[in-house]
Amino acid sequence: MAKHTIITMPGDGIGNQVLPEALRVLKTVGFEADYIHADIGWECWCKEGNALPQRTIDLLAKHKLGLFGAITSKPNKAAQEELKPELRGKGYIYYSPIVTMRQKFNLDICMRPCVGFAGNPLNYIRKKAGSGFDEPRIDTTVFRQNTEGMYAGIEWTNPPENVRAALATHAKFKAFANVPGPDLAVSVRVITRSAACRIVTAAFEYAKKRGFKGVTICEKPNVVRETSGMMEETAKEVAKNYPGIALWSANIDAQLMWLNKNPEDYNVIVASNLFGDILSDAFAGLVGGLGFAASGNIGNEVAVFEPTHGSAPKYAELDPAIVNPIAMILSAAMMLDHIGEIEKADLIHRAIAAVVEEGKVRTYDMLRLSGGPKVISQGAASTPQMTDAILRKIETLATAQEHLHAVCR
Ligand code: NAI
Ligand code: MG
Repeated sequence: MAKHTIITMPGDGIGNQVLPEALRVLKTVGFEADYIHADIGWECWCKEGNALPQRTIDLLAKHKLGLFGAITSKPNKAAQEELKPELRGKGYIYYSPIVTMRQKFNLDICMRPCVGFAGNPLNYIRKKAGSGFDEPRIDTTVFRQNTEGMYAGIEWTNPPENVRAALATHAKFKAFANVPGPDLAVSVRVITRSAACRIVTAAFEYAKKRGFKGVTICEKPNVVRETSGMMEETAKEVAKNYPGIALWSANIDAQLMWLNKNPEDYNVIVASNLFGDILSDAFAGLVGGLGFAASGNIGNEVAVFEPTHGSAPKYAELDPAIVNPIAMILSAAMMLDHIGEIEKADLIHRAIAAVVEEGKVRTYDMLRLSGGPKVISQGAASTPQMTDAILRKIETLATAQEHLHAVCR
């Protein structure tokens, strides 16, 4: 396999703590790659007025694969105040670099696996009808449309006259016709048939690969008739190409109720941008939360893998670092899967599963401690200690595998 070049974008805060841990893991599984650091995030905004500099865009365009840590974003007022004095008042506007990156490279497929590891004390448990509890095995992957929908960014408070005039052509706008401009906010939900088709197809392809029986589309077509309607209609069309896989449909609100009752029944869920964002966080909460939530932003050419969590600034300066590196490491394993390095990805998964199941090494979140420097003295593993445990497991598993190969030859 040709050697890959990976663009590493640690970004802000704990992004700088977890991304290097993922690189240690990639090295230990024998993944040979060149890594190029690229700048992204708050410091770029403050110094350059652009959180996603052109040089980073150029690197991604050239090398196509990225690992991203996390960024800090702040409301517009704080963004303006922290801008370098000579850049202030010059019309710079803060845009989230990750949203910009998704739109710029059309990373329209967002894949968010929410898979429980046995023995994780953070796993969802359910009270049985009689007495006792059970812990269903959750293996859900949410396919979230990543570039359109409510996050298309077409919105106004006090919409300009021509927009108001256009809205007024809709009979339902009569109810808002007298609202003063400054009191009226409008966000446009855009769905295109081609993007809907791509996200649903990605979900079905994944179900086929994993041998799952069905795909659930989560929208609200009975109320949001046009946009959710197009998602649902497209899903029905795409489903015809997959005769062995059922298409189930659940309204978004009902789905959030179902996931508290029988989350194990959902293996593949597909939704538009905002609904997918909500669903993936909700499912992630059932399998360990932010310390375990990995994701891939996948386009036709470029793909960027990242943990779902943010920069957690309150822990960013702690030495040793205390946050859980597993979400970042799982994101790196997703990248391996994406480029066909399936055995290496699998080795990482098995190593994490073994460490979690053994339960000897746990970061503060897994012990349900409130974060801070004292967690180490309370028995929590530091970020590098968690990675060390995973690396040791990788080595043990790899040796066992080699031994097996030798015996069976
Ligand atoms: P956050 O995800 O950074 O942290 C929320 C809380 O979750 C933390 O205080 C911590 O208790 C826990 N947490 C997060 N990652 C963890 C890990 N790896 N291990 C253990 N515990 C972990 O979200 P928050 O505090 O809302 O936002 C902080 C900054 O991050 C903001 O500026 C926000 O805009 C940004 N953000 C960036 C994202 C991205 O880069 N994709 C996503 C979400 C937020
Ligand atoms: Mg989110």
